[in-house]
Amino acid sequence: MNAGRRSARVASSSSLVEGGRGVRFESGGGLCFALRVEGRVVAYRNECPHTGGELDWNEGDFLDAEGRLIVCATHGALFEPSSGRCVSGPCRGASLEPVAVRDDGESVVAAE
Ligand code: FES
Repeated sequence: MNAGRRSARVASSSSLVEGGRGVRFESGGGLCFALRVEGRVVAYRNECPHTGGELDWNEGDFLDAEGRLIVCATHGALFEPSSGRCVSGPCRGASLEPVAVRDDGESVVAAE
């Protein structure tokens, strides 16, 4: 049980489409983002493990041209969307920090 924890609406479920743009939100005092991949919503802190900078190259644009991997706008590191693990680039082997979100089919919410 999460007594005392609040949750905040991040986006409508329908606004997160497979391979599409992500949504940025604040949670736990930091900037985060959510995407839909392989049919489910995943979320991470918007901090690259290389330098701590934000990942998106335009606000909400996190994926590569094929919509398969998360790409860091600064030095081009590539991350698996389902795990957050860096598979190419200067932080290879490191991972994005996951953020707990829940998709009830109507809204995506994050615990604060
Ligand atoms: S800041 Fe992300 S790869 Fe360097």
